[in-house]
Amino acid sequence: MSKKAAAKKPAKAAKAAKPAKSVAKASTTSSKSLLVENRVFKPDAGFVKKARINSMAQYKAMHVESLKNPDKFFGREAKELTWSKPFTKVLDWKCPNAKWFTGGKLNVSENCLDRHLNGPRKTKAALIWEGEPGEKRVYTYQQLHREVCRFANVLKRHKVKKGDRVIIYMPMIPEAAIAMLACTRIGAVHSVIFGGFSAESIKDRVLDSGASIIITADGGYRRGAVVPLKKNVDDALKAKDTPVKTVVVFKRTGQDIHIEEGRDVWWHRELEYVDAKCPAVALDSEADLFILYTSGSTGKPKGILHSTAGYLLHAQMTCKYVFDLRDDDVYWCTADIGWVTGHSYIVYGPLALGATCLMYEGAPNWPENDRFWKIIEEYAVTVFYTAPTAIRAFMKWGDEWLKKHDLSSLRLLGTVGEPINPEAWMWYHHKVGGGKCPIVDTWWQTETGGHMITPIPGAVPTKPGTATLPFFGVDVGIVDDLGNEVGTNEQGKLVIKKPWPSMLRGIWGDKKRYQETYWSDFKGWYFAGDGARRDKDGYIWIIGRIDDVLNVAGHRLGTAEVESALVSHPSVAEAAVVGRPDELKGQGVVCFVTVKEGIKTGRDLSEELKKHVRKVIGPVATPDEVRFAAALPKTRSGKIMRRLLKQIAAGETLKGDTTTLEDINVIAALSAASGED
Ligand code: WT7
Repeated sequence: MSKKAAAKKPAKAAKAAKPAKSVAKASTTSSKSLLVENRVFKPDAGFVKKARINSMAQYKAMHVESLKNPDKFFGREAKELTWSKPFTKVLDWKCPNAKWFTGGKLNVSENCLDRHLNGPRKTKAALIWEGEPGEKRVYTYQQLHREVCRFANVLKRHKVKKGDRVIIYMPMIPEAAIAMLACTRIGAVHSVIFGGFSAESIKDRVLDSGASIIITADGGYRRGAVVPLKKNVDDALKAKDTPVKTVVVFKRTGQDIHIEEGRDVWWHRELEYVDAKCPAVALDSEADLFILYTSGSTGKPKGILHSTAGYLLHAQMTCKYVFDLRDDDVYWCTADIGWVTGHSYIVYGPLALGATCLMYEGAPNWPENDRFWKIIEEYAVTVFYTAPTAIRAFMKWGDEWLKKHDLSSLRLLGTVGEPINPEAWMWYHHKVGGGKCPIVDTWWQTETGGHMITPIPGAVPTKPGTATLPFFGVDVGIVDDLGNEVGTNEQGKLVIKKPWPSMLRGIWGDKKRYQETYWSDFKGWYFAGDGARRDKDGYIWIIGRIDDVLNVAGHRLGTAEVESALVSHPSVAEAAVVGRPDELKGQGVVCFVTVKEGIKTGRDLSEELKKHVRKVIGPVATPDEVRFAAALPKTRSGKIMRRLLKQIAAGETLKGDTTTLEDINVIAALSAASGED
């Protein structure tokens, strides 16, 4: 191509960033979805010019190579990690057990920190932090390295060894990332618990993981209030026979807390006893890295286990190709460190790549609705990654909050957590991205460790509402129950047909559940509960969970978990929990409850049950509505008919077969019942 032609091309591409055709309305009534989205947005020309991957042909060639010759593709990519001992084999796969990069040894904290200290990144900002009340801190790579080494020595002082589990229950402060990296430095396995989980949830996770130490803070700030983190830990440890010997407490909010002599120690005091030298331990590629609990379709959360080399590679690689992060980017992921997004895209991916990562402690609407935009302007954020539920909230709050701020530094936007509705996508594109920023809608899961289906922003044209095409190494199928590929625009089950480097390695302590949950619906393929369809261009549209898992504001919640919390209340006889569409949160939690003999139902009990669920699981699980009924609709064999309950919860007229229903009168009573009146 001549220089002239090359110069002309971007202008044309920029023009194409306007919708080509209009959109037909969605229908949810048929499995063959009628949603036809014709708006196509070519990658912005300015973006393409600098992008690492800048054409569809290049994306396709790399994708083909990654599937046909994974040894070569991933062998080459893995050379970008720093190894203490090189690996001898790329993949060893015996379904469902994958081993990646066997024979190799490396350390995650060394890859995230030490290796950046030999050049100009030493003095570059690794972490920029802003507290909710407004404090600011910046850590250069050198400073972060020093803090991680010091805290790793604190862990050693408390006899934490390779393979030991460490619970981290902290606010969104740099110390959370420091504690995680410190664990990886000595080969301890962290399990971060989101601050929105309750004492009982902590207790369950402590017992399941067998952790001997908890790292926490006195409290954290959220919407101006203090979240009593240490108090929750104290309550969790009231349980008999927990394995916890030590609780390290960071002083964040300064309120009075209980200190248990012989168990609790202050973070800042501990640092006085240690020095700043701590060698990184060389660990096997497959050494356990972390456990992260997530909801499944039973009442008991699963401890998703990730291992070292494959996970780190995928986190780094997606930051490189999907976020296209550069040394001069200021990258901000708004997730909490307690979710996998925070693990892969606040800590491990960006730091492995040597990027500058911003971290914010609090709520998006504190003190006012423009906090996020204020932060973007102040730090000149270039790459911004958030969730559809947040985008919908911003839309609701109104454009005037954005208009007050200069967002022109942004060059790339991302979303994750649930399907993004086209209206929210368009708003994000125009109002936040000024029409020039590609949007990467990234589909993935706690189990997958990193992005699986996502546009490559300089190469793949986007359409509002689709995560588009698979990432490298990801072999997607959309199949019927027998495993046959479904037709264009037909809904099927989303499966992954090949192992990928950052796949989960198991469920902590439960081999059988690992095999049964993910690998037994389709032999040799991974299935984790989503439905999807493919359009005529091969783009993948995620429909959402098709198992008994809800997605509430981007957070996963098992209906069985909420049900078991409800029936643990003395008034409740039986409970069935379903999701209903919610404009802001994606899904809301609706509980159908029958009570024990002689119990009075009504608003008081409904409020009490909501509180009870909050107490048992945590504020993340707060029900939106509790409905009382004399009975739940059941089949003759006694199975609760959730399909009907979902329709009732959504206020729809009942469709489909009710002939298996034991007592049709139950339905009429349920439709009328509400705990709110
Ligand atoms: C479930 C996984 C991945 C980190 C956050 C959530 C849904 C996630 C998308 C997306 C449509 C999405 C799926 C998935 N999901 N991203 N871009 N489009 N749906 O992780 O808690 O493990 O939840 O979130 O239903 O199965 P998670």
